[in-house]
Amino acid sequence: MYLTNEEEKALEGEYGESIATSYRVLVSLGDFLGADRLIPITSAHISGVNFANIGDEGLKFIEQMSRDGKVRVKTTLNPCGIDTENPYSLNPPEDFVKKQMMIVNFYKKLGVACTLTCVPYEHDNRPKRGEHIAWAESSASIYANSVIGAMTNRESAISSLAAAIAGKTPDAGMHKPENRRPGIVVSVDREAAPKNVTEFGLLGLFAGRLTQKPIGFRGLNKPDRFQLKALGAGIGTSGSSPMFILSDSRLAGLEEIPYTAREKQEIIESTSKVSEPQMVLLGCPFYTLEEVRRLTKLLSGKKTILDFYLHISRSVYEKAYKENLIKKLRDSGVRVLKDVCPSLTPIGKWNGKENVLTDSPKGSFYMRTALGYRVGVLDIETLAREYAK
Ligand code: F3S
Repeated sequence: MYLTNEEEKALEGEYGESIATSYRVLVSLGDFLGADRLIPITSAHISGVNFANIGDEGLKFIEQMSRDGKVRVKTTLNPCGIDTENPYSLNPPEDFVKKQMMIVNFYKKLGVACTLTCVPYEHDNRPKRGEHIAWAESSASIYANSVIGAMTNRESAISSLAAAIAGKTPDAGMHKPENRRPGIVVSVDREAAPKNVTEFGLLGLFAGRLTQKPIGFRGLNKPDRFQLKALGAGIGTSGSSPMFILSDSRLAGLEEIPYTAREKQEIIESTSKVSEPQMVLLGCPFYTLEEVRRLTKLLSGKKTILDFYLHISRSVYEKAYKENLIKKLRDSGVRVLKDVCPSLTPIGKWNGKENVLTDSPKGSFYMRTALGYRVGVLDIETLAREYAK
């Protein structure tokens, strides 16, 4: 890969160890992807922050990078394992809180905006169409490519941090217009068309298994942003496709894979079930302000009969607080949590509850595989109807 003189110097350590490490990561990645150069990015979003999944090794790496590193572009951060303003609220072990806070503080030292959100595009980090960015968190990078029209590969925790410090990324993959064309089309039958956000997540799970290339969809009737968010989250969970495309004009002549009532039933049955649920986890990906409004309305005048946990970013929390939504949700029995990922953080284990319901197919996958919960998936209307009276 061609490097400029400045990039060569950075790689050789002339500007410090962290930037040299970052360039080593980017050059290896660029060689692997077949890039011939690095290109500047306008923003980064980093995923390696939850102590529950990066552990001591991850903590050590971030500490090392923070010794002399600084990010060069606007950089936001994924959710972690505690509410950083109220760290003991979910009964985490003391050692977990200590190490989680260390990780967040190392990121602050690096200059990262500690937004602790997996929907950075909502308020905290809003790229424009055509901008080159380096985003980790599969649901966010797929949303950025597919809905916003920004250009990013599905970065890892390490490559997104390296890109943030260098302010650059390899010119390959989704940064090349020729790679942003769909490889196949999922043709959705009228009777299988998803009816709610959860069903869009299930369709995403089905489609994500089919190809590593962008996925075209035919037969979806003007989905809203929240349905698209769930579609991308499902795709990101079951495979490595980086983007979906709905525009009919770009789908002509491609192999069509049917999604009929049969495929829909199979994907519903592949998500696990739970008897005797003990808690409801909402917000994977984090709820947006509009989704918080909708939940408040669904629960209006009711009390939950299971523990409901709602996960949102602090920027959404502040806005929801001003609209009095947080109080209304609390009055309905919902615990509203900032900063915390519900699907990779053992909140249930810390509180003796491992039978879980969620509205998120992505969430159910990780709660089952990473946390060992028994998980059932129901849409939010059903959850509000059946588990709040
Ligand atoms: Fe967000 Fe955690 Fe789900 S980071 S997308 S809530 S797995």
